[in-house]
Amino acid sequence: MAVFDINSKVALVTGGLSGIGLTYAQELLKNGAKGVTLVDLNEKASDKVVKELEEEFGKNKVIFVKADVRDIEEFEDAFKRTVATFGNVDILINNAGIFDESDEGWRKTVQVNMIGVLNGILLGLEKYLCDHKSGEEGLIVNTSSIAGLEPYPYSPIYVATKFAIHGATISFGHPVHYERQHVRVVAVCPGVTTSPLTSTYRYGEYKKAYLNRPRQTLADLAPELVRVIQRAPTGTAWVLDSEPAYQFVLPDRDSIPKIYL
Ligand SMILES: NC(=O)c1ccc[n+]([C@@H]2O[C@H](COP(=O)([O-])OP(=O)(O)OC[C@H]3O[C@@H](n4cnc5c(N)ncnc54)[C@H](O)[C@@H]3O)[C@@H](O)[C@H]2O)c1
Repeated sequence: MAVFDINSKVALVTGGLSGIGLTYAQELLKNGAKGVTLVDLNEKASDKVVKELEEEFGKNKVIFVKADVRDIEEFEDAFKRTVATFGNVDILINNAGIFDESDEGWRKTVQVNMIGVLNGILLGLEKYLCDHKSGEEGLIVNTSSIAGLEPYPYSPIYVATKFAIHGATISFGHPVHYERQHVRVVAVCPGVTTSPLTSTYRYGEYKKAYLNRPRQTLADLAPELVRVIQRAPTGTAWVLDSEPAYQFVLPDRDSIPKIYL
């Protein structure tokens, strides 16, 4: 299997100032990325994060662009600034996501976790990665979750958004699109990972069950994120949960045993 070389590549990471997004940025730079754009809303944290990355990996490798992934014009501006700064763009990590099931917040969860990801895929696949990649192949990594694999009855909205990522990934990641644009589209499904992700549960008792689940650290997750970037074939999804990444395979419809009512 061909291994995608991260060295000298340019990446745009949404939700890049915190948690899993920041871990992606660090791992990309460790593996020789030429530049990383951190796209996030949290302007306050940006100076500190950029400074720390510059101290570790050197100057002129990281920029911050304030953008809300729900807004396609702001998101597009982040792609434009990436190309203007680094000369090209090869990788989009569609990572920004929220977990808010409250009456006030659940629509925002749908907008960030689904519209935000679809905005990124459309910009990446149709406009920027296809035309501004430095090598033969671009890459989009979409972020699902173990909550995109099985029912979590106490957070059904979040689950709905994370299941949606699979449909988008297998369809945009289909060879039809790969042959057209030479951009791999893959998904990751992390397990419960210690991070600042805000969790507002629709049904409060879930919190206890969630907190009692075994959780991995960002350091556990980091090497598996890199393996997915380097090796995952287009249209595939990978479970990253305290062990080596393994593929989540959606059943082929023709192979499903037919159970009639
Ligand atoms: N932490 C976990 O246990 C876990 C497990 C599975 C999947 N995930 C998914 O991984 C992704 C990252 O989660 P995390 O735990 O690192 O969360 P986090 O809260 O630590 O980081 C998310 C980042 O996204 C940014 N963000 C939020 N809304 C945004 C928007 N509209 N536009 C741009 N940026 C925005 C936030 O400011 C924050 O910096 C999410 O998609 C989450 O659903 C997390």
